[in-house]
Amino acid sequence: MDKIAVISDIHGNLEATKKVLLDIKNRGIDKVICLGDIIAKGTHSNACIDLIKENCFVVISGNTDRYFTQEHDMDALPELEQKRINWNRQLLTEENRKYLQSLPFCFEFYMSGSLVRVFHASPRKDDEVVLNLDTIETKSTMFEPSPLTPSQEIADIVLYGHIHHQYLDKLYNKTLINVGSVGNSFDVIRKPDFDSSTKETVNVHYVIIEGNYGEKEYGNDISFQFVRASYDISKELEDIDKNLEPESYRYEIEEGMYRDMTKIKKGYEDRGVVFRK
Ligand SMILES: [Fe+2]
Repeated sequence: MDKIAVISDIHGNLEATKKVLLDIKNRGIDKVICLGDIIAKGTHSNACIDLIKENCFVVISGNTDRYFTQEHDMDALPELEQKRINWNRQLLTEENRKYLQSLPFCFEFYMSGSLVRVFHASPRKDDEVVLNLDTIETKSTMFEPSPLTPSQEIADIVLYGHIHHQYLDKLYNKTLINVGSVGNSFDVIRKPDFDSSTKETVNVHYVIIEGNYGEKEYGNDISFQFVRASYDISKELEDIDKNLEPESYRYEIEEGMYRDMTKIKKGYEDRGVVFRK
């Protein structure tokens, strides 16, 4: 059986990137797919890109890889946004900027009879938000092809990133998986007096898929493993003074929270989620 590690959302976190690659290697896995968002947030963009380039056989473009390498009409943007774009741009060598711009939107392969499709956020857009608690109707569209997918088949298994929240769902005999985030994991559903330890949340998260790679016939075994491995967070934060938004970054990395919980909670509440009182 073949094992493939699927990682996503590195976000410039070098210690997390080193750890995920070591963890994968220690498990004897040599095939790694990265689903994008290598940069933005952390200070180590070039070092992370170099490691991903060297170790992954497929690398997909994420919304931040695209957004922070494309041209912008700066005058039309708020000041903080201009600062973010300039900061992320100056962290990248020209070679790595071009590399990020060259990345594909989507990749497909067969595994143990299933058509597996991988992308950053959805088959249509690299910044669409599809959550585990979205409707069956919305989640079922994740298996559909689009003009941006390599084939026009309906997928059997989808793996994606973007929402930084690992989960697996089964619908219409298909499997929908979010692999989580390597460098910027968080949990949105939180309540201080009910939360378990954040230690597991702030880990490096990724997924291993195991089966017969390239096998188009049905009837073979397939399995998925959700991994959460610890890394040296304080080492990653050693050069925090170089970060454009140091306090937000520290909060996310140490607490496993998103920097703007009000915004993200609203997204959940708009979907009818009632949080524990
Ligand atoms: Fe991301």
